[in-house]
Amino acid sequence: MSLHIRHARILTLAGPYGARRGPALRELAVIPHGEILVTDGKIVAVGEKVEAPAEAEVIDAAGRVVMPGFVDCHTHACWAGDRLDEWEKKLKGVPYLEILKAGGGIHATVRAVREATQKQLASPLRERLGQMLRGGTTTVEVKSGYGLNAEAELKMLRAIRRAASEWPGTVVTTALLGHAVEGDMEDYARMVTKEVLAEVSREFPDITVDAFCEKEAWSVEACVRLFEKARKHHPIRVHADQFNSLGMIPEAIRLHAQSVDHLEATTKADFLALAESPTFGVILPCTGFHTDQRFAKAGFFADQGGALALATNCNPGSSPTHSIPFAIALAVRFCGLRPAEAIVAATVNPAVLLGYTDRGTIEVGKRADLIMLRHKDERLLAYEVGGNPVDAVICAGQLVPSADVQR
Ligand code: NIG
Repeated sequence: MSLHIRHARILTLAGPYGARRGPALRELAVIPHGEILVTDGKIVAVGEKVEAPAEAEVIDAAGRVVMPGFVDCHTHACWAGDRLDEWEKKLKGVPYLEILKAGGGIHATVRAVREATQKQLASPLRERLGQMLRGGTTTVEVKSGYGLNAEAELKMLRAIRRAASEWPGTVVTTALLGHAVEGDMEDYARMVTKEVLAEVSREFPDITVDAFCEKEAWSVEACVRLFEKARKHHPIRVHADQFNSLGMIPEAIRLHAQSVDHLEATTKADFLALAESPTFGVILPCTGFHTDQRFAKAGFFADQGGALALATNCNPGSSPTHSIPFAIALAVRFCGLRPAEAIVAATVNPAVLLGYTDRGTIEVGKRADLIMLRHKDERLLAYEVGGNPVDAVICAGQLVPSADVQR
């Protein structure tokens, strides 16, 4: 089965494999009037004109932008319950960390997740994955982290795998083992580092391990102890500098973390150190939009040559959205990114961060995860706010039914 896309403005993002930094972070490698041939789930030809078999299904882009599917590299999209009551408190000015300290926030979702069955977690996640696909996301990372003990964390991880198996896109599962603290920090972190990590490792031997380094959550010391142990078998990532700069970034670099995510409170010195390191910086601008209007200075980080990615942080507390186009629109307004940088940070760079060599660009041999925008100029992806700019989604070479995309 072949698809022949014609009359497209193609953002190929072609280039050497690896994180795009500096000027390469702005390079979309555009074919202004091009064609793509997709066969058996893969891109087999791309250029101004391609040879296509007569029986190929033709998609006439009529000048619209065709680009790689979005890769959303940071979400907490598996949850139960809702946080609407606390959101109303937040609207009245109660800060996120205060709600957390009072036993709400992440803890409220933990209570709901512990009460839910695996199926009750998988089913709303599958719904959210459907919404993501309609918005152009074809690969998504989903973290656990609302279990806080081995039993509930494993239930979440299994639920994520189950929802993933019913979705045409790709889900990368991450074990967020250090998300909040129950009881005494030292005792709790010791228990997670010893027991929860061991149980998760047994069932998910190469899963990435994550933690939330913040006041009212995990201290730098507790994160370091968890990561020192975890990194013997697992890649590591860390949430750092969301509200406070606690000194996690130098440790994350030293420990070869794959990424440091959030960065709203990051100092200039830490941005410079991060930019010089192989560790990615992941910005989550929908979080500042929903919580406290603080945004990571990603333009500065990009100008220093940092490896940058952009994600939705979809979760019930700090970022109730699954829309990468919305994250892009915020990143150019509040984080200092150019539209092209935001596009690279939402496609090829997060693909590299998640370890994929087969996606994030439109090149021969890559997996055919493609989207066609409603727009003929990609800057409109960043300019327009709200709504869905995606007219068509092709996932692993299959055209997602338009009724599903436009729903
Ligand atoms: O990245 N900050 C920690 N974790 C999430 C929020 C999770 C929640 O509030 O439920 C975040 O913003």
